[in-house]
Amino acid sequence: MAKVGFIGLGLMGRPMSKRLLQHGHELTVHNRSRPPVEELVAMGARAASSPEEVARASEFVFLMLPDSKDVMEVVLGERGVVKGVRSGSIVVDCSTVSPSTEAEIAARLAEVGASYLDAPVTGSTFAAESGTLTFMVGGEREAFERVRPLLECMGRRIEYMGPSGSGQLTKLSNQIAVAGTLLAAAEALAFAVRVGLDPRKVLEVIGSGAAGSWQLNNLGPKMIERDYAPGFKVEHLRKDLRIVLEVAERTGVPLFGASTVHQLTKVLCAMGFDKHGTQAIFEALLRFSHEAWKDSARAGAEPGLPPWS
Ligand SMILES: NC(=O)c1ccc[n+]([C@@H]2O[C@H](COP(=O)([O-])OP(=O)(O)OC[C@H]3O[C@@H](n4cnc5c(N)ncnc54)[C@H](OP(=O)(O)O)[C@@H]3O)[C@@H](O)[C@H]2O)c1
Repeated sequence: MAKVGFIGLGLMGRPMSKRLLQHGHELTVHNRSRPPVEELVAMGARAASSPEEVARASEFVFLMLPDSKDVMEVVLGERGVVKGVRSGSIVVDCSTVSPSTEAEIAARLAEVGASYLDAPVTGSTFAAESGTLTFMVGGEREAFERVRPLLECMGRRIEYMGPSGSGQLTKLSNQIAVAGTLLAAAEALAFAVRVGLDPRKVLEVIGSGAAGSWQLNNLGPKMIERDYAPGFKVEHLRKDLRIVLEVAERTGVPLFGASTVHQLTKVLCAMGFDKHGTQAIFEALLRFSHEAWKDSARAGAEPGLPPWS
């Protein structure tokens, strides 16, 4: 059994680290706020007061943090992983962050004899709980092979994608597809509501045909219930699309859908939905449609159907 560290115990990190414990690994954990640490300690993990302390106690250190700056701080900051990591250890970043951040950190850790893999995931919090995540891994192949048995505790599909940053680039491709299908699902259901159809029936019919998608079939029911509890937070989709657009700008790829959804996530954050699930994009569309309805009524035009409430 391996000595494993885990830093970042949020919506994803908590269930992922629990699976490592359940597979019998010796786990040391750290998080910015205390409650998730206590939850893991109650299950048998050891608490560390800093990333440095996690690294000292572990041969493998997993990170599951929000953004590039958080990963930078946790690995290279004061009392960061780099201060405690042992030569031969492997640090595995499962967060979705910028590929250039990963390359910079990999080079810094190589100087102290440690390996660094970027290993972002796809799959919801449910996939994290059930150990069915997909891992897309970039970095040295040898380090990947050493860490694979641990990734298999948390995921069903584990893929090596190439040198450092390749995992993140794969994940960004994933997020471009997620953004497009999320917007399509929300628009289809908002339209169905506004033309007076039963959205549940519409979802049932179109979800099983050519329009079906993970976003429509999993988030559609939540949209209709206006249940915006987070699985994947709006602020994280905004961050992912910011990175996507930065990389696309450098490479010249035009991204029409991702740009639109990025703008929508900005508006959603301004509306106070930053910590809600990405299905809240449906709420924004409903509210825009409500405003448009009021405007046409004010102008004396045929106002169409009344807003859904
Ligand atoms: N949720 C999903 O469905 C999903 C799916 C695939 C990928 N992802 C990606 O996975 C990453 C994590 O997502 P999440 O949904 O788990 O996010 P989250 O719920 O916001 O969790 C992030 C965790 O990191 C902790 N943290 C932040 N800065 C820290 C620091 N300096 N030191 C120690 N801990 C720190 C936070 O602590 P606090 O308790 O203090 O906030 C929180 O527990 C993101 O990059 C996201 O894009 C998410």
